[in-house]
Amino acid sequence: MNWKVKALLQKNLSTTKLGDNLNHIPATLNKKYNYNVTLYQVHECIRKFNYSNINLSLNKTALEIGTGYSLISAITLSLLGFEKIITVDVTKDIRFSTLKKQIKYLSNSEIFQLISSKSIYKKHEITTKINKLQKINSLDSLFKLLNIKYLAPYSFDEIIQNSKMFDYVSSQVVLEHIPPKTLNELFQFTKQILRKDHFCIHTINFIDHFANPGFFQDKSISEFNFLKYSDQYWNFWAGNSIAYTNRLSYIFYLELCKKYNLNVINFIGENYRVRKELNSELIHNDIIKKYNSVINIEDLTKYQRGTLIITNT
Ligand SMILES: C[S@@+](CC[C@H](N)C(=O)[O-])C[C@H]1O[C@@H](n2cnc3c(N)ncnc32)[C@H](O)[C@@H]1O
Repeated sequence: MNWKVKALLQKNLSTTKLGDNLNHIPATLNKKYNYNVTLYQVHECIRKFNYSNINLSLNKTALEIGTGYSLISAITLSLLGFEKIITVDVTKDIRFSTLKKQIKYLSNSEIFQLISSKSIYKKHEITTKINKLQKINSLDSLFKLLNIKYLAPYSFDEIIQNSKMFDYVSSQVVLEHIPPKTLNELFQFTKQILRKDHFCIHTINFIDHFANPGFFQDKSISEFNFLKYSDQYWNFWAGNSIAYTNRLSYIFYLELCKKYNLNVINFIGENYRVRKELNSELIHNDIIKKYNSVINIEDLTKYQRGTLIITNT
């Protein structure tokens, strides 16, 4: 289906109060949705955590940027051994009914094994914690039990009111939804709140989300199709709260690390799906202008996804 069909639908939905929730419904219709989300969130949370060298035996505080529709990532951080977790989003999308369904899967052997392999707690201690979690009757009781603070919407000041410094900062497919100006503020804030030599790990998806699998997928386009358009044209189609992606490559994030003196330990670029190459001559000048440094145009389509691992020097 032509990507503009989905773009128009999202643009219209974004003008309604429940637009983002309605846009999310098709994904939840899959029978295995809650199991898949739980496995994915636990897996990705631990994959990122593995790149850090944090000693969880001391009281540690984590910050998650972009909670989304699931609290499983924040819960996983707690089950690993973080003493306090602050999870923030621009919109409040967590539902207790969904959370209950996902918590059930924490006892699944594959998921439990993933957590216990990296946790500071013994297996029977994790089991006790999960049993308690499965009995909670409200979001507030979960937050109290695991010392999780959910700020949505949030401001940087509110984060600081809850913790001045963090031992670990992470995000999962969130940064691509943040405009360049806010990203600039976020990296500056990271420099301020990340404890010295501690880790901040972001997984970023760089592709045109209209090429994502699903009923509305446009199979005819390159996964970097969106780089062909001017800012004005792209804003018309996708400059709304549901569809917005910043169209930035990993180079932009490396530039921000340099600007704020954050030490890049590694950037792990990946191509996780079949590539449909975009002729780099088609890349619009508005895209090239987003970078401060002189860029190699091939770098803009080099990776579909990547994990940025940084420390505060
Ligand atoms: C694709 S979802 C990912 C959510 C979750 N991390 C996950 O893995 O399912 C992107 C999320 O980023 C959030 N987001 C967008 N801009 C943000 C910002 N400036 N700060 C924090 N979160 C933001 C959106 O509201 C949305 O929940």
